[in-house]
Amino acid sequence: MNARVRRRRFRILKILIGLSLVTGLVVGAGALVLWSTAVVDTADEMEFDTPLSVPPLAESTVDGEGRRVFDLEVREGSHEFTAGRSTPTWGVNGDYLGPTLRASRGEEVLVNVTNDVGEPTTLHWHGMHLPARMDGGPHQMIDPGETWSPTWRIEQPAASLWYHPHLHGSTQEHVYRGVAGMFLLDDERSGQVGLPDEYGVDDFPLVVQDKKFAADGTLDTDEGMVAPSGLLGDTVAVNGTVGGYLDVTTEKVRLRLLNGSGGRFYDFGLADGGTVTMVASDGGLLPAPLEIDRVLLSPGERAEIVVEMAPGEEKVLRSHPTDLGLGAWDSRFTGAEDTFDLVQLRAAESLAPSAEIAAELAPAPDLRAEDASETRRFRLSGNNINGRRMDMDRIDEVVTVGDTEIWEVSNSNGGTPHNFHVHDVQFRVLDLEGTPPPPELSGWKDTLYIRPNTTARIVMRFEDYTDPDYPYMFHCHLLQHEDRGMMGQFVVVEEGGSAGTPPAHDH
Ligand code: C2O
Ligand code: CU
Repeated sequence: MNARVRRRRFRILKILIGLSLVTGLVVGAGALVLWSTAVVDTADEMEFDTPLSVPPLAESTVDGEGRRVFDLEVREGSHEFTAGRSTPTWGVNGDYLGPTLRASRGEEVLVNVTNDVGEPTTLHWHGMHLPARMDGGPHQMIDPGETWSPTWRIEQPAASLWYHPHLHGSTQEHVYRGVAGMFLLDDERSGQVGLPDEYGVDDFPLVVQDKKFAADGTLDTDEGMVAPSGLLGDTVAVNGTVGGYLDVTTEKVRLRLLNGSGGRFYDFGLADGGTVTMVASDGGLLPAPLEIDRVLLSPGERAEIVVEMAPGEEKVLRSHPTDLGLGAWDSRFTGAEDTFDLVQLRAAESLAPSAEIAAELAPAPDLRAEDASETRRFRLSGNNINGRRMDMDRIDEVVTVGDTEIWEVSNSNGGTPHNFHVHDVQFRVLDLEGTPPPPELSGWKDTLYIRPNTTARIVMRFEDYTDPDYPYMFHCHLLQHEDRGMMGQFVVVEEGGSAGTPPAHDH
């Protein structure tokens, strides 16, 4: 090799080293900026100068067949998250979010859902026990201008359920725009255990969603470069109000917390560190009231808490930084280190008395591992479940009606968070890593956080509603993951039956 060639090669090498150093520096600096701007903390910074908005109760009528009928319209609107700046949103019968539906056990309901948003969507009844074709999942698409009218009988305990779109691929965006609301169920017992239950007086839903705004006030739907749990906002709205206050007029106030976000976790508690009484989880009242200082909700989960107030007192509901068991990178970019002051409770100078909460709220879930006839395993990893992505034409699991089953769910995804949601049923958590669950997870659940590198065992019973063709879903409720295919389908069939063919779909 002559000297000139050697020199030229050396020059090229120098340029390459220089380039990679510069790239490294730029990438490193970029990562550093991302890293250090990723934490949001609004503790003690909110003004609490806006009254908390409360979703109205949905009006209903009773039809000739005795069914309670609700009319819902999914539509476009605009909403002021901060005074004076309007943001295009979606809502149900309104500009943002939807009304609270309420029905009692034993009642038959009929919901007319009209799509007025100019693109296909669905409405799913999260936590509801009902026939698969009424479920509002990806097989029940509603085209623009059309009305879909599912009907079913309420056959489950009192609970705070909710509704939201559930189409394949765009659920995160439709929920983020604001299509979400609560569906409250009552039963013979729930009104008699001393719980505040006068809607809008001492009983309030809190629908919690995070938002990110572009400079012009529109919702920013860009997930950004690093989003292990999906789209994250740096502003948290409760029922659409950022920094709202709630005037409390009774000694006790019941808050029905819903994590309606797609990818953010909330570790709810009081800012002053005081305790609250947790009385319900996803699918119903806990066996007994529970004194807690924190309750962690992953996307889709609910909890009901009762807060006791002294006359004139002020308390702030806060979402605290929390340990999700993630790697450092995922933890930061999932927002686990963030703090948000959410709502200020302001007690009046004189408070109406509230009843004593009963020591027993509801029977514990009557599901035992010994009764299970089958154990199925689900491995969550890399937007797959058991190595597969959602396929609307494939039935993944076939369940026999009447069976009790154990589902063993593990998060094998290194440091990434996932949770697990099953349609149709409420389940009981048997154990987490072989250990019995903490008391807040001892009641009915339909969505469960699965920490990385851990396994949870849940037990459930599939009581009725066979249909070989129309499937129910199971999936990760981090909506970005769900949209990317972290979802599967199961059918419930008669003894000895097998899976049929899922309905044709054109979306
Ligand atoms: Cu809340 Cu399958 O969903
Ligand atoms: Cu996930």
